[in-house]
Amino acid sequence: MIIKPRTRGFICLTSHPDGTALNIKNQIDYVQSKGTIENGPKKVLVIGASTGFGISSRIAAAFGSGAATIGVFFEKPAAEGKPGTAGWYNSAAFEKEAHEAGLYAKSINGDAFSDEVKQQTIDLIKKDLGTIDLVVYSLASPRRTHPKTGVAYASVLKPIGQTFSNKTVDFHTGVVSDISINPIESQEDIDNTIAVMGGEDWKFWMEDLHNAGVLANGVKTVAYSYIGPELTFPIYRNGTIGQAKNDLEATTTTINSILKDVNGEAYVSVNKALVTQSSSAIPVVPLYISLLYKVMKEKGIHEGTIEQMYRLFNDRLYTTDGTIPLDNEGRIRVDDWEMRADVQEEVAKLWSQATTENLEQISDIQGYRDDFFNLFGFNFDAIDYEAETNEMVQVPSI
Ligand code: NAI
Ligand code: NA
Repeated sequence: MIIKPRTRGFICLTSHPDGTALNIKNQIDYVQSKGTIENGPKKVLVIGASTGFGISSRIAAAFGSGAATIGVFFEKPAAEGKPGTAGWYNSAAFEKEAHEAGLYAKSINGDAFSDEVKQQTIDLIKKDLGTIDLVVYSLASPRRTHPKTGVAYASVLKPIGQTFSNKTVDFHTGVVSDISINPIESQEDIDNTIAVMGGEDWKFWMEDLHNAGVLANGVKTVAYSYIGPELTFPIYRNGTIGQAKNDLEATTTTINSILKDVNGEAYVSVNKALVTQSSSAIPVVPLYISLLYKVMKEKGIHEGTIEQMYRLFNDRLYTTDGTIPLDNEGRIRVDDWEMRADVQEEVAKLWSQATTENLEQISDIQGYRDDFFNLFGFNFDAIDYEAETNEMVQVPSI
């Protein structure tokens, strides 16, 4: 079929198999250009492995460190004249490239929050790899069905305490407008968001993997968090999602005690704000990212998910002398360049100036758009979007 982008709000309903494959190939090329990650991981489980930081973690592990990888994700193949999801095509392309490079790569498509998928993953590890030495937890989801109680939780993106009013942008049209977001009405909004995006499911994974005896001595596990600038605090770090991130970060202590007898270590890495399917859904954040991109590109310090994940592995989790640099709260920081004072000062200045009229000049809104469409395999010069393509691409191991 011929596949064109079809968007609804911040969602792209279609994906292009050749464009997403090119996106994966570009990420692999980047990692190979950087060279081998010394002392890197060898058997890696990535939970949330199909898009964003998760697929880039999988690529960094496989092509930077020669790791065997198992990826868990929730994606859809093509059906009834509809293309598959971007994460499906990403995973198909990743496995094909990994297999050609002689690397073990298998995937599990299903609900990572469920006990069934956890058991399926354990069975696969036992059958093929024996143990795992790195578990990457990179899930982002708006809902979770609790595996023990069956309760379905939906997260919300709301401020706590008072209404938050600021600027936002529709990145398709470039229209900057004022937005007011009402605060939570009850504690339930916080509890639901923590139930979806907090640390409980990460803990369940590590408990189950540990009890099954499939964690190697010295295993590491890492989950991803975000802090960001003060101007997004009301909607992000001090909002409902921030409460979930606090819970996720606190879960490292619990997991460290679970992993004691295998000398395991749990970390949270605070990553940079980037265009992903999840971040485009958060109000105000796309305008911040488009200004941040402009400033960071001008300073020559811009990174995408693959640059971030390579740096996380090479300069943080697997350093030459084995020490992991942490902040005062015990977190890994690869948002260090985003949070540099000179970067934040310039973003804040641009933020106060931003209007519909000057946005194309003062921001990198075009870079935002390109990154957004690239996630779905669109806006690549090398792809002929008028040509027929085979949408029925399969993930080899599924
Ligand atoms: P994403 O939307 O690109 O990736 C989410 C992944 O989770 C996908 O692989 C998806 O298939 C998987 N997934 C979702 N629900 C699932 C389920 N029920 N079962 C199995 N798999 C499921 O998101 P992104 O942005 O890469 O986020 C990953 C983590 O990074 C999140 O914790 C996010 O908060 C964090 N982060 C994101 C930043 C950003 O700017 N995008 C910045 C810093 C941290
Ligand atoms: Na290293």
